[in-house]
Amino acid sequence: MRILVVGGGGREHALVWALSRSGGNDIICAPGNPGIGKLARLYPVEASDIRGMTGLAGEKDVDLVVVGPEAPLVAGLADTLRAAGIPCFGPGREASRMEGSKWFAKEIMQAAGVPTAEGEVFADAGSAMDYIGEDAGQFVIKADGLASGKGVFLPSEPSEAAEILNGLFSGKGGDSGQKVVVERRLIGREVSILAICSGTGCVVLPPSRDHKRLGDKDTGPNTGGMGAVCPPPELGEDFAAAAGDTIILPVLQELAGRGIDYRGVLYAGLMVTGDGPRVLEFNVRFGDPETQAVLPLLGSDLSELCAMAALGQPLPARVDVIDGACTCVVLASGGYPSSYGKGYPVSGTDDVEGAFVFHAGTTASDGGLVTAGGRVLSVAAVSDDLGSSIEKAYLELGKIRFRDCYFRTDIGR
Ligand code: AMP
Ligand code: GLY
Repeated sequence: MRILVVGGGGREHALVWALSRSGGNDIICAPGNPGIGKLARLYPVEASDIRGMTGLAGEKDVDLVVVGPEAPLVAGLADTLRAAGIPCFGPGREASRMEGSKWFAKEIMQAAGVPTAEGEVFADAGSAMDYIGEDAGQFVIKADGLASGKGVFLPSEPSEAAEILNGLFSGKGGDSGQKVVVERRLIGREVSILAICSGTGCVVLPPSRDHKRLGDKDTGPNTGGMGAVCPPPELGEDFAAAAGDTIILPVLQELAGRGIDYRGVLYAGLMVTGDGPRVLEFNVRFGDPETQAVLPLLGSDLSELCAMAALGQPLPARVDVIDGACTCVVLASGGYPSSYGKGYPVSGTDDVEGAFVFHAGTTASDGGLVTAGGRVLSVAAVSDDLGSSIEKAYLELGKIRFRDCYFRTDIGR
């Protein structure tokens, strides 16, 4: 198959690696990055350029498009590709509201009987404050639209909640501030589930855990993710399959009942509470950096699964999973997720042995590889158990150097 992968981050590097593993596929990627360029031909089309991307897919006569980021999906890339007769692994615009609108996702969950935090949607700060009352620490405030991970707030005092709500409704939150979802705060441990979906069927990949906070011991601001492990050690063998039955399938059926055919990844961010798993959020794409920790343990051929899903064909009941564990640690630019420098030379990536180096914010310059983003690279190591995969990842990432390199020292611990 000739496959076009859309995007250019660490997730897309892991996807290109997994899609090219069988050796039978010809992979192209747009816009890609220097790491992906070693595995695939790159084309300078931005992920947000729907016409350009559809044109590229047609011109290169691809058999399948696999979309990495959410923004082009929410903007309708999959619909445009399908209208042009090109199979796409990624949901259409309507289905992408599962990520694009927190309230749409909540409504679907309520209708499908999927466990989630109790919540309501508000169009003004006053009624949201009436709902929250005096116990602000019991609630979470979420901007309704896409907010690149910056739309979720956990206030501790009513005054803080009021400030957040006023900020969102005064437009500080941009378009995402027009509606706000307020929900009950859940307590437990977070787990990410990635399900490959083909209409009303799905197959669930092994569960993983993202470390979203910037600092060790889960301190500091939320980020896109500073590292991930697969699988979280405390989960039983059947966790993923059970999540498929109780969370993913009911959602797919509810969507199908509304005429929405979901083909792509449905990512469920779960809080495993004392009363079982509850959904915190859905994403309509692979997680980053979860993908970099999950795909190295996938024994099944990802390209076959994606093609079956894109064509609406039945999926196998289970995927093959390699025994062991994978730890992925993100190397970021000091200052991320706020402001950080760029253009610093990166060395040592070729010295890493027996672990993956996935590129995210790198670019090629005359002098070699340089930093170009907040999350620069990630190093992922597979081993027999979590402890040794953590050790291996940290040993190998120590070989990589760039100015202001920052990483958490406790991923998986
Ligand atoms: P979301 O983008 O909805 O996943 O929210 C980002 C992060 O906020 C999650 O990964 C959780 O750490 C936290 N969060 C979101 N919703 C809740 C909730 N209802 N209770 C507790 N924490 C939450
Ligand atoms: N790692 C969180 C996400 O991909 O949304």
